[in-house]
Amino acid sequence: MRLVLLGAPGAGKGTQAKKLIEKYGIPQISTGDILRKAVADGTPLGKEAKSYMDKGELVPDTVVIGLVKDRIAQDDCKKGYILDGFPRNTSQAETIDKVLSEMNVPLDVALSVDVDKNYLMKRLTGRRTCRACQHMYNVFFSPPKTEGVCDKCGSELYQREDDKEETIKKRLDVYEAQTAPLIEYYSGKNILKSVKGEGSIEDIFKEICALLNAI
Ligand code: AP5
Ligand code: MG
Repeated sequence: MRLVLLGAPGAGKGTQAKKLIEKYGIPQISTGDILRKAVADGTPLGKEAKSYMDKGELVPDTVVIGLVKDRIAQDDCKKGYILDGFPRNTSQAETIDKVLSEMNVPLDVALSVDVDKNYLMKRLTGRRTCRACQHMYNVFFSPPKTEGVCDKCGSELYQREDDKEETIKKRLDVYEAQTAPLIEYYSGKNILKSVKGEGSIEDIFKEICALLNAI
């Protein structure tokens, strides 16, 4: 299954993707995670990407499309994959569609996780992520047992650089202007499914599985 997860910053794309990996045995390709790793490693790509990410803006298409093309060509993507945070605008969507249709492996489904804007700020300012295993917590909704420490592996939790209120506002604006139009785009291709991303993580996951199993 080749799946795109659509949704605003904080909608729960990463949270649900991690559960989908386990259930369907396909990898998550998060362009945000790939870029954050490049920033942490101080690579030339990371240095270029950082200035955009810190401002809450999109990294240039050429950079991101190249990353995704390389990643989907790897062996573990043969059975499918979950694209999380990509595509992010119509140009990225059209480019990847063209690449995949030439390879005869088009996307199967674009799943939009819909969350009311009022919830997103709290989800993002409260997010904490494990440096080692990347498990995600939220200090308001799903706190770790010990503050700052991962329940799963005991490593340190950190807050993302772009989870500051001002940057979040910019990311939400960029989402509305550039990414939200993809809902129409995939609806026009008849591969759009939508799920309400409010309520418990488990209940949302069950609904997603029911939608995917019906394809
Ligand atoms: P990216 O990393 O993709 O960030 P994003 O789209 O802003 O989305 P998030 O990761 O913030 O949210 P999410 O939906 O994954 O939510 P999560 O599951 O973590 O991109 C970051 C930056 O990289 C961009 O700004 C851009 O600069 C660059 N970039 C990336 N891709 C790019 C591309 N294709 N092109 C150009 N630039 C690109 O959940 C959030 C919080 O809510 C967590 O604390 C979680 O525990 C909690 N939570 C989740 N579900 C629930 C629930 N049901 N109830 C209560 N809390 C919940
Ligand atoms: Mg994410």
